[in-house]
Amino acid sequence: MAENLPRHPFLQGLSKHRGAPPTAVVIFGASGDLTMRKLIPAVYNLAVDNLLPADFHLIGYGRKPIPDDEFRTLAGQAVKEFSRREMNPEIWGRVVSRTTYVAGAYDDRSAFDRLAKQLDDIERRLGREVQPLFYISTPPSVFDSVLRNLGASGLAARHLGKSHHAKVVIEKPFGRDLTSAMELNRVIRSVFEEHQVYRIDHYLGKETVQDLLVQRFANAIFEPLWNRNFIDSVQITVAEEVGVGSRGGYYEQSGALRDMIQNHTMQLLALTAMEPPGSLDAEAVRDEKVKVLKAIQPLRLGRDGDVARAQYASGLLGGRPARGYLEEEGIAPASATETYAAIRLSINNWRWQGVPFYLRSGKRMARRVTEIAIQFKRPPGTLFAEGDRFNLAPNTLAFQIQPDEGLNLVLNGKVPGLETRTQPVKMNFRYSATYGSNTPEAYERLVLDAMIGDGTLFIRGDEAETSWKLYTPVLDAWAAAGRDGMDAYAAGSWGPALGDALMLRPHHHWRKP
Ligand code: BG6
Repeated sequence: MAENLPRHPFLQGLSKHRGAPPTAVVIFGASGDLTMRKLIPAVYNLAVDNLLPADFHLIGYGRKPIPDDEFRTLAGQAVKEFSRREMNPEIWGRVVSRTTYVAGAYDDRSAFDRLAKQLDDIERRLGREVQPLFYISTPPSVFDSVLRNLGASGLAARHLGKSHHAKVVIEKPFGRDLTSAMELNRVIRSVFEEHQVYRIDHYLGKETVQDLLVQRFANAIFEPLWNRNFIDSVQITVAEEVGVGSRGGYYEQSGALRDMIQNHTMQLLALTAMEPPGSLDAEAVRDEKVKVLKAIQPLRLGRDGDVARAQYASGLLGGRPARGYLEEEGIAPASATETYAAIRLSINNWRWQGVPFYLRSGKRMARRVTEIAIQFKRPPGTLFAEGDRFNLAPNTLAFQIQPDEGLNLVLNGKVPGLETRTQPVKMNFRYSATYGSNTPEAYERLVLDAMIGDGTLFIRGDEAETSWKLYTPVLDAWAAAGRDGMDAYAAGSWGPALGDALMLRPHHHWRKP
């Protein structure tokens, strides 16, 4: 961090109480990709920032039989390769000296008993009780087994009634439609109490997503304008350059709506559109999110409906040829899985009635960018008309969530010169310019919050169900239609014509951020 700059506010965070009790983090799916790329580096960076509790332990749990030493070596390699900061051997040494591994199948009750014994041993050695934090980072097919065994072995109820009671973090995907999400919630609630449960959406851990809350509610200038009287429309784009890569097997069962829209994009929408909560407590924030999600009108299907889907065809990405989705590894030749989805939403409440919210997400699009753009109503142009053209641009406030994190506001200004000509100009705030570029990653914040017991940035069960309720009819209709109604877009483009056709008014069009 550059000298003489304010301490980065997100190191302090939204919550003021940052002390975690002695904790043993148990990662199920310990040799998986997410563990190595994100979770282990997150733990390491928390250690660097001195945010891990003094008595911290890490236990990997996985199907592969791996000796403790080998797991430690793998974890060290993950830190070297994926951490945002270089490995400091002394700091890492402290973490790794308290890292162990339990091998076992997820439906093997006796392996969970061995895990419980490890936790008992740690407590005996320390002479105090330790909070167990179970992190389920496995494929969803075994969520059920892990949860049931956590229940049957008594681990889920460990220290229940005390502040360092057991907690469980559940990775996405949280179900694949309303029925499966409700069933997963039912299993979770048969084992854990809701306050023990932390459902992850890693977008909520992103700095800029938290900043959205701060910008909205820590500045007086936005709230008076944040409604149907001044806002014309809202666009939320989550575009990726990457294709499906080696994840074809997973992606074929998922698609853009399940993978990105139902979760990440809807979280961005909820934070943009919710009413100010009474406090930043988890329940207050999540109540408001659920309220706004419930106010969304059911989506209209069919011709001129509110939804569009497409697959990427071959194209050019950064000047290089990129193949189409159907040619990718592990993809069925007549796959009906969408790699792009666009949605037009109406929120039927006092604040937003009549303001269209446009959402889109796609793989292999022109550029990696996640952005929330608030477009204000066009100003009356009478004073600055050129001939019979009123060409003032609408003011637009754009939160650039990633990359090149920042915030910009488009205003109309005068072009210097002897004539009075106007031109849109951009006021630009970049995080990197003010805070430096080495900011915490989403998983650091989320692992820390779960250890502390702050659920604000996690999804509540009813929130997940409300979002699935909106999209399940769309998923069902798409499944029934097969490839009928599936559009295509060239890899490296901004998406298909069907996505453009969602725009309600002639002056609405997708931004090219
Ligand atoms: C994941 C999706 O949840 O988010 C991936 O499964 C996607 O398909 C990823 O690429 C995007 O996350 P980020 O943080 O890179 O925007």
